[in-house]
Amino acid sequence: MKVAGKTYRTVWFEKGVSYYIDQNLLPFDFVIREAKNCTESCRVITGMNVRGAGAIGAMAGFAMAQAFLSVPANNAAQYLSEAKTMIESTRPTARNLFYAVEKVFHAGLISPEQAVRTALEIADKDAADSQKIGELGSELIRDGMGIETHCNAGWLAFVDYGTALSPIYKANEQGKSIFVYVDETRPRNQGARLTAWELQNADIPFAIIPDNAGAYFMSKGKIQMVITGADRIAINGDAANKIGTLEKAIVAREYNIPFYIAAPLSTIDPECHTGADIPIEERNEEEVLFQTGMDESGKECQIRVSAPGSQAMNPAFDITPSGYITGIITEKGIITPSVETIKKVLNR
Ligand code: MRU
Repeated sequence: MKVAGKTYRTVWFEKGVSYYIDQNLLPFDFVIREAKNCTESCRVITGMNVRGAGAIGAMAGFAMAQAFLSVPANNAAQYLSEAKTMIESTRPTARNLFYAVEKVFHAGLISPEQAVRTALEIADKDAADSQKIGELGSELIRDGMGIETHCNAGWLAFVDYGTALSPIYKANEQGKSIFVYVDETRPRNQGARLTAWELQNADIPFAIIPDNAGAYFMSKGKIQMVITGADRIAINGDAANKIGTLEKAIVAREYNIPFYIAAPLSTIDPECHTGADIPIEERNEEEVLFQTGMDESGKECQIRVSAPGSQAMNPAFDITPSGYITGIITEKGIITPSVETIKKVLNR
């Protein structure tokens, strides 16, 4: 994706170093940073400097490759198994993370070079799948549509192009006039900070709306389609995505508005029979009790937005049952969310 005329991926790997756009600084600062070893790459994922299913999947693959590049002469097996556990403990919900670690781990047992090659292939495939999702998904978008999206499933959340935003980018390129309703996505505001920044950068008309305003705009006939990403999809089509997605899907059903999930097949977890099998990340209550932003002088600051002494609950994801999902836009086509179709597309 281009930023100020230059093409970037969100994460990339060169000579044993992972490079990434620091998402915690966006939309205020655009900064590239590096993680020189497996431990540093893990910190980048836990700190959410890189977040979004595909981007953390690629970063986790790089981290696993970094572990193979620095195996000590003694206790190699124990070192690698601990590194794998450390990466897998960074964040629990996004399937792409586990998918990448597993693949790179097995490749690394052949040679460290093979681990690196596999990590790079995973990143390349993520970008190619996202691009394809854009092409296929854009066929659903008609001129003049209002489209709501939740969280950030744009190019920042993947290696490039994104999933939920990829069809929107493509439709815009095709000259379709669209307007995007961007849910702010509390508590971390991935919509207000990241999706808004991406759409501004691509010159696509949008407005940030409060998280609780989707039903209002749907009831006014402003929204003709909802597209979100997914962090993990069960074999029956139930999908985990950023907290609040379920509410959008239920309201969309009420107003007969199609609700699509856009995700590569690598997001489907064949081990999860239903959404109930998907682990949901519980995050720190401070993310709810305080908000982080930028002060007048351009310095990051935190303000309390809650009654002192309150406790908060902060589940990061919810599960949308497949019955609410009109279709899943994958790199292999737009599929109905059912066990039969999903097994067929996965060749199982
Ligand atoms: O907690 P995050 O920011 O890593 O959340 C992941 C997501 O970006 C969303 O749930 C998204 O909509 C789907 S994954 C790109």
